[in-house]
Amino acid sequence: MHAPMQDLFDATGADVGGATQFAEGAWLLREFALDRAAALLAAVDAITARAPFRHMETRRGLRMSVAMSNCGELGWISDRRGYRYAPCDPRDGRPWPAMPPVFARLAAEAAQAAGFDHFVPDACLVNRYEPGTRLSLHQDRDERDFDAPIVSVSLGLPATFLFGGAARGDRVQRVPLRHGDVVAWGGASRLFHHGVLPLADGDHPLLGARRINLTFRRAG
Ligand code: SIN
Ligand code: FE2
Repeated sequence: MHAPMQDLFDATGADVGGATQFAEGAWLLREFALDRAAALLAAVDAITARAPFRHMETRRGLRMSVAMSNCGELGWISDRRGYRYAPCDPRDGRPWPAMPPVFARLAAEAAQAAGFDHFVPDACLVNRYEPGTRLSLHQDRDERDFDAPIVSVSLGLPATFLFGGAARGDRVQRVPLRHGDVVAWGGASRLFHHGVLPLADGDHPLLGARRINLTFRRAG
């Protein structure tokens, strides 16, 4: 990471609740999902019982350190052919598990809180991080429709979200994310670079040494 970084939020976690805009169209919704965390995690268990977490390969044959699954009409996949959305799990050829109502409702409510009305996601990527897992700076650009925002829900161990700009070398902000936080971005920042610093070790009461991220998108 060569771009200069800036801490926008109090790393002590003194900021609690509420909505904070950190770039045009980009909002941190502190603890927005907290009251639904148990229901979300139960749904994650049901999804991954049918479509287990797996480490996908990049086009270059590298194993991704984030373990992934999906639910909804479309799932994000990566393999030697590249990145794309697919209606079926390549593992067994079956459709991805349906998006649970508790997921769709949360995504729509969070999008609305960030100023994006009528968000109906058709894809939810379920990411699992363990200590040391990171996600390098990237853009979400495999979706057909960039009008819809991205809604990203954090559960379990805290993480540092990186949020840059349209260009790879743009200044990167560090946004500390904790259990129950939601980030939503779209409009002018829809294609901004973002990533996650390596997860620090820890022991979360609900998830142990893991972080689960749900990323909702309108893909098709
Ligand atoms: C992603 O960019 O797909 C995931 C972001 C996160 O884990 O917070
Ligand atoms: Fe992303």
